[in-house]
Amino acid sequence: MSGTSRLVIVVGSVREGRFGPVVAAWAAEQAAAHGGFDVAVVDLAEFEIPLSLPAESPKYAGASYPRPAGMATLTARLDAADAFVFVTPEYNHSYPASLKAAIDWHFTQWTAKPVAFVSYGGASGGRHAVLHLENVLSELHAVTIRDRLAFPNYFVTWDAGRPADPEAPVYAKAMFNQLAWWAAALRKARAEAPYPG
Ligand SMILES: Cc1cc2nc3c(=O)[nH]c(=O)nc-3n(C[C@H](O)[C@H](O)[C@H](O)COP(=O)(O)O)c2cc1C
Repeated sequence: MSGTSRLVIVVGSVREGRFGPVVAAWAAEQAAAHGGFDVAVVDLAEFEIPLSLPAESPKYAGASYPRPAGMATLTARLDAADAFVFVTPEYNHSYPASLKAAIDWHFTQWTAKPVAFVSYGGASGGRHAVLHLENVLSELHAVTIRDRLAFPNYFVTWDAGRPADPEAPVYAKAMFNQLAWWAAALRKARAEAPYPG
């Protein structure tokens, strides 16, 4: 399997003073170094993503789903993606509401696409958040990547915008290898036959 896949790295936190963009920038650097992706970072803070949803789910309303004008670019980027990395912190043992809202406003944008995780937080490094995301994404027919990067206590384990652990790029490469494989496999599969979702 070969070819360049379009990767969208989603910054999941939108809080003032957040650390998410630092992690996303490092992840984007690692993805670029991998060489198998066209990499774009999508920051949820830049889009209009209300918590109040329309009456129907995008699952049933399909292409006619009424999204805010300020979400159009986000939706187009998710539509065009072959693969995702969710960069997420841990808020009260889960992931931020901003990320859940972005997920819930969409449906086909996730279907039969792979999602990898880069998480960070306190002692657990965001692992609780990722467990919840896996559960949610399986409902949306996305495929989650087995290897993931979790950065516990990032406030003491990151320095100058990168993890102090010299092995981190090695782990990142393993994760991106798996993500690239799934991205190419599922892109081909989506092109060959409609997903029976
Ligand atoms: C509302 C809230 C709840 C949090 N809960 C947890 C938690 O359950 N586990 C954890 O490891 N860190 C927790 N933290 C600490 C965050 O991991 C840390 O603040 C991190 O910087 C948040 O990501 P952000 O800076 O991108 O928003 C919490 C932070 C906030 C704001």
